[in-house]
Amino acid sequence: MINTSLFLKPDRIVDPTGWVGHIPFAFWVIETLKPAVFVELGTHTGNSYFSFCQSVNSNRLPTKCYAVDTWKGDEHAGFYDDTVFAEVATYNENQYHSFSRLIRMTFDDALSTFSDNSIDLLHIDGLHSYEAVKHDFNAWLPKLSHRGVILFHDINVRERDFGVWKLWEELSALYPHLAFDHSSGLGVLIVGGNQNAGILEIAKEFESLSGQHLIKSLFSRLGHMVDLEYHSKTFPRDIEVRDTEINSLNMMIDELENNINTTFNFRFLRVPKPIKKLKNSIRKRLKKLQEKFFSKSKYIPLSELKKKSPKIFLIGNKANFLRLRCKLGLLLLIISHSFQS
Ligand SMILES: C[S@@+](CC[C@H](N)C(=O)[O-])C[C@H]1O[C@@H](n2cnc3c(N)ncnc32)[C@H](O)[C@@H]1O
Repeated sequence: MINTSLFLKPDRIVDPTGWVGHIPFAFWVIETLKPAVFVELGTHTGNSYFSFCQSVNSNRLPTKCYAVDTWKGDEHAGFYDDTVFAEVATYNENQYHSFSRLIRMTFDDALSTFSDNSIDLLHIDGLHSYEAVKHDFNAWLPKLSHRGVILFHDINVRERDFGVWKLWEELSALYPHLAFDHSSGLGVLIVGGNQNAGILEIAKEFESLSGQHLIKSLFSRLGHMVDLEYHSKTFPRDIEVRDTEINSLNMMIDELENNINTTFNFRFLRVPKPIKKLKNSIRKRLKKLQEKFFSKSKYIPLSELKKKSPKIFLIGNKANFLRLRCKLGLLLLIISHSFQS
């Protein structure tokens, strides 16, 4: 089961890195199957595709490789611009032009460019809804050869409307297989009836719990190492990006604090001039009103008024009521004006 390709070092890893945990398996499966034709449905920035190509190259195999993608994106991977295809095409041209072709079209349109029974290894990694992946599987199955193997990425994702796990449940009940849980899961479905000994051996091992545990652990540990190695290289860059973000957030906080202080000072500490004028004129009028009713005394307590004269008591009550209304009006004016400003 062990082969030397297992320990190849990836030549190229870029974002997004969701697939990189399966790179050791990609290296291994190419050396094991030695496919005459390998096709990938869904390549995006090329992490999976170029690891299959790297193994073809390093094992000096006569394999022909084809990457099919619109290079426009989809609802799950997100949509992206032409720079992605330009970078992938340049790398493909520089490294693997002798055996690898990029087919920029939909999976359905690309069907006619392959004969039936011609593909030995197919990797399905397009849109991940149940309907889409089932459609891709049914459409491409006739293209698989008698030693055909199909890989499905994301069999272990159960969020949004990913449905590869559901199709995998159905298919793995029908075909010999093995499956990995790490890096969102990878299913390996052995569909051809005349298989290579290496893949049959690993599928047999996978049938026992201990064998399954061993195979899963081996590939997930190797995949984890690839992931770690990549992230240890990008770590300084990631920290720089994070620090820049923290700095810009700090600047935003400072600006917001300044705004709050200015607003607070204006609303609560300084009363605008027109309001001050209004306040003073109302105060004067209030004073005049009071003087009109009670000569010099500002305010006569109710008990006093009652004793002096019931008539004056009545007038006093009216004056107090008037004064209260004026005060309330003033308060409302100030509040509404400060909210408007
Ligand atoms: C999940 S990404 C592929 C990830 C890639 N295997 C990797 O290693 O990172 C899915 C890709 O499939 C492509 N795609 C989805 N549905 C497609 C379709 N029907 N025809 C062509 N391309 C499609 C999208 O453009 C996107 O680039």
